[in-house]
Amino acid sequence: MLVMGVESSCDESGIAIVDDGRRIVVDLVASQIDIHARYGGVVPEVASRQHLLAFVPLLEEAFRRTGLAWSDLGGIAVTRGPGLAGALLVGVNIAKSLAFARSLPLVGINHLEGHLYAGWLWDGLGSPPEPPSFPLLALIVSGGHTGLLLMRDHGDYRWLGETRDDAAGEAFDKAARLLGLGFPGGPAIQRIAEGARAGVHLPRAWLRGSYDFSFSGLKTAVLHLAEREVLVDASPEERARQVTRMAAGFQDAVVDVLVTKTIEAARQHQVRHILLAGGVAANRRLREEMVRRAPAPVLIPHPSLCTDNGAMVAACGYFRLQAGQRDGWGMDVVPDLRLS
Ligand code: KG4
Ligand code: ZN
Repeated sequence: MLVMGVESSCDESGIAIVDDGRRIVVDLVASQIDIHARYGGVVPEVASRQHLLAFVPLLEEAFRRTGLAWSDLGGIAVTRGPGLAGALLVGVNIAKSLAFARSLPLVGINHLEGHLYAGWLWDGLGSPPEPPSFPLLALIVSGGHTGLLLMRDHGDYRWLGETRDDAAGEAFDKAARLLGLGFPGGPAIQRIAEGARAGVHLPRAWLRGSYDFSFSGLKTAVLHLAEREVLVDASPEERARQVTRMAAGFQDAVVDVLVTKTIEAARQHQVRHILLAGGVAANRRLREEMVRRAPAPVLIPHPSLCTDNGAMVAACGYFRLQAGQRDGWGMDVVPDLRLS
């Protein structure tokens, strides 16, 4: 069954069509990053307006590329939260209108659950890879959320730990801003850290005995170091060298904590797969370290499927529809929707 996925929770407008929750037929993302980069972060009102502009051309392009018709679709899935209220509203209203006009079943998706389903996607080339097997442990690391989630079946979730302050992506973005590296911070830090011979050692908040995370102390450590080592009268070359060392040290510290805690939880719960999900899962260092140290097979979606997209929403929607979930025309956005 072909399901259309609509994503608009933050600064990417996504439209995709996915077959049986796995095979990507088309996946189109209109990113607004260049526009928000001018302001150093996502401006919610601008995001909503950009979604309004993006969706009709994306829909037209999706049908043009695939040659499909509306009658080929079996349902529409849309992210209803968590996310920016105004941004979510655009996607949800578009999905509701389309489902109503075309008499298609509609299903509202939790954005974090959507990120998990990137692990089920397949680009359609070659033979399909094995799907994730349960119980699986998901490390969700996005701009708004960070946590370890035990998934025992479709729709069966238990949070083992969450961040007590900043999300991992938020920490990357804030640290990058402190170091003058621009927005979004994750890719910028990854890029510059790759040129570093060694990073400075920065503190890790282990929060022993819990699977929770904390990144705000690390961010403060970067701030203090930046004030001490970079903002003093260093030459441009020395300044660049220090920024590179700090970016590498920051990335090392975040990756070390994420990987160590994920491995502990994977051992304790004897999971069959570890799944990386969310924008920070695009981080090369995190991907490499997780694969190197993990006690179970690690599933890592292609970097373009780790950041927000419509295909993950469509995949999740397929499994929800299969489980009998349907949402009515009264479905509304829930900006702080919890996954449980
Ligand atoms: O999942 P996502 O696209 O949006 C949310 O749901 O929040 O995640 C965006 C976050 C941003 O904070 C961005 O800096 C981070 O993911 N990110 C990365 C990388 N690519 C994106 N962080 C570290 N390394 C990357 N390569
Ligand atoms: Zn996301």
